[in-house]
Order: sequence, then C-alpha cells, then structure tokens
Amino acid sequence: MGYAMPMRETITVGLGERAYDIHVGAGLLKHAGELLSPLAKGVVPVVTDSHIADIHLPALLEVLRQSGLDARAIVMPPGEVSKSFAGLERLSGALLDMEIDRKGLVIALGGGVIGDLTGFAAGVLKRGVAFAQIPTTLLAQVDSSVGGKTAINAAQGKNLIGLFHQPRIVIADTGLLATLPPRELLAGYAEVVKYGALGDAKFFEWLEVNGARALAGDEGAMVQAVAHSCRMKADIVARDERETGERALLNLGHTFGHALEAATGFSDRLVHGEGVAVGMALAFQLSVKLGHCPGQDAERFVRHLKAVGLPSCIADIPGARPGAGELIRHMAHDKKVTDGKLTFILVRGLGQAFVTRDVPLEAVKSVLSD
Ligand SMILES: NC(=O)c1ccc[n+]([C@@H]2O[C@H](COP(=O)([O-])OP(=O)(O)OC[C@H]3O[C@@H](n4cnc5c(N)ncnc54)[C@H](O)[C@@H]3O)[C@@H](O)[C@H]2O)c1
Repeated sequence: MGYAMPMRETITVGLGERAYDIHVGAGLLKHAGELLSPLAKGVVPVVTDSHIADIHLPALLEVLRQSGLDARAIVMPPGEVSKSFAGLERLSGALLDMEIDRKGLVIALGGGVIGDLTGFAAGVLKRGVAFAQIPTTLLAQVDSSVGGKTAINAAQGKNLIGLFHQPRIVIADTGLLATLPPRELLAGYAEVVKYGALGDAKFFEWLEVNGARALAGDEGAMVQAVAHSCRMKADIVARDERETGERALLNLGHTFGHALEAATGFSDRLVHGEGVAVGMALAFQLSVKLGHCPGQDAERFVRHLKAVGLPSCIADIPGARPGAGELIRHMAHDKKVTDGKLTFILVRGLGQAFVTRDVPLEAVKSVLSD
C-alpha cells in the first residue's frame, strides 16, 4: 500500500447482476442526491436512529430533496433493541404506510443496527425491495454495510433471524465519523485491524504507521483505511458470498469475542469491537501455542492494539474476570458450531488466517486461563 491518500475512492463488489459500488470519501453525504436519484422511485424512506436523526439526518434529507427525491424519515430507537421482531414490525409498518413502490429504494442511515434491520426489512418487504447503505459508524463503514448480511436478534441469540440481501450502493462518508463517541470509533478500528491480521500484512504495517493518525482525525488516512478494508471485504464477498469457505475468515477473533461479550452480559464493560480486539489477540496466542504462528507476530499484533488504546487481553476487561469454563460454554452456544465441534479462525502469522476445526479443547482452556 502506498502513501498517496486520495480523498475519494470507489470499490465495486463484483457480484454479477447484483454488483454494486462502495463510495468512500470525506464529505460524500453532499453527493448522496446525485448518487441515489438514479436508483430511487416514488417515496424514498430514510431509516435512522434518534441519535443520528439529531446530527446527520437533516443534511441528508436536504440533499435528497434538492435532487427531487420525496425523502421521508423513519426514526427508530438507538441500540440493539431495534434489531428485534418488535423493531421489524414497527419499521415494516412505517414503510408500508408510506406506500413504498416495490421498485423503490429504502435508505439506511446509521450504524450496524440500522443497516442490519433496514436491510432485513427491505429484503422481506413485498418479497424484496432495494436498499442503500449510508453507514455512520466505523464498524458499519468497514464491515456491516458491505456484503449483504442482514438480521435481527432472537431471544435465543444475536443475528439468528436474517437473510442475504445485498445493498444497491454503499456511501461511506468518513466525515460522519467526527461525531462518533471516541470509544465507538476505536471499537470499529478493531475491525480495520482485523483485515490486516487476516489477509494483508502490508496493510497491517501501514496501520502501524498511520492507524493512530486516522483515529485522531486525519481524513486522508481514514479514507485510505476504510477504502482498503472495504476492498478486502468486497473481494472476499465476491468470491464467497454465502460463507461456504473463505468468508469465514472475516470472523477472526469473533468466536472468542462473542463469548467475552456474552460473559460480560453484552454490557458497557465490553463493546463488540473491543471483544473482537481481545478475541483476535487470543486467536494469535492460541495459534502460537499450537505451533502455527511465530511468537513475535502475536507480540507485534498486541503491541499495535495497545498503541491505539484497544484492550488486548482478558485482564483489560473491567470487572470480575470471566472463567475459562464459562467462556467455553458460551462458545459452544455460538452459531459457528458444526457437528458439536468448535470452529476457530487461527493464523500462520500476520496476514495469514485460516479456518480450522482441529483445535484441542485443552489448548483453548489454557489460553483463556493465561
Ligand atoms: N451485517 C454484518 O455483516 C454485520 C457485521 C458486523 C456487525 N454487525 C452488526 O452491527 C451492529 C453494531 O453496529 P454498530 O457498532 O455500528 O452499532 P450501532 O448501530 O448501535 O451504533 C453505535 C452507536 O453510535 C451511534 N451513532 C452511529 N453513528 C453515529 C455518528 N456518526 N455520530 C454519533 N453517534 C452515532 C448510534 O446511535 C448508536 O448509539 C450489531 O448489531 C452487529 O450484529 C453486522
């Protein structure tokens, strides 16, 4: 990766007739009208949450209306509570009340919660209407808005009711991240680091030099970090849309991370991206223990997490330390279990992740107790 930092990039997700572009840039919201009007018809619902409605919604509605679109807001409560059957019922009702055209376009303006909920509602409404993603969190810009996974949560677990429904376009305006709480920005950065760790050692090296600058508000560095992450995800999704193979690598750190989130009660003690950060560090340690990965790669990985201020071990999580047995029980409930065996994403070094089911439970326990 070079050091030239363009302020705008377009990445195509190559999925044949469902191919779409991801536009990444600082200040792109201003261009949303021209980007979206060719795709829209009739009423254009803009789904968002009440935090974002107070900050970024008025500007978006304004540019859409200037482009002649009949844009109308639907504001959901913030947080996971909206990614529910009740949230789906409320949103579908609002979309139907607006008499949205089956050939129309629904816009999701928000983080992963709004993107996942809106994508799912659009996927089932009238057997499928098109939707656009305007992600407003770093996590959503580099991960959840790309690739077409949509879902709501069930009482039995997160993301268990869902479908694949690709967006028609993604507009990632990195300028919107300026209003994000710093902890949410940093948590999203864990997913950026993930791309380097799983498949691109050069990108990891670039992040070691530029990551902190991107987080501190350097727009060129942030555009570059988001665009490169999207490029990597787009390539993987184009090769394995339905996660029959390679796409699983995107779950690096997630088996451990979800268990840690569950053990801390999905509370403020550990937000998703922080769980992924600790989970990735544990995946590196497990890889070293099993002889797959040189110890210095694991050390270098942890050094970068620490350098930007992300947690990198279980002891970094505030409050009582979750025990190994409890964490393994949570992992066994995770949906990445097939035929009773735990699937892990491990690494052969920085940028070299692989999927395995051949992991002795004793080694997992030992890493969780270290
Ligand atoms: N579909 C996928 O492939 C995929 C991948 C990863 C995660 N996810 C899902 O994403 C969700 C998490 O997404 P998230 O981390 O974006 O959380 P989120 O959508 O809940 O957003 C986090 C918080 O930030 C606020 N916010 C959003 N943008 C803001 C902005 N620009 N300025 C100020 N505040 C802002 C929101 O109102 C919310 O309170 C989870 O439900 C997870 O399951 C989905």
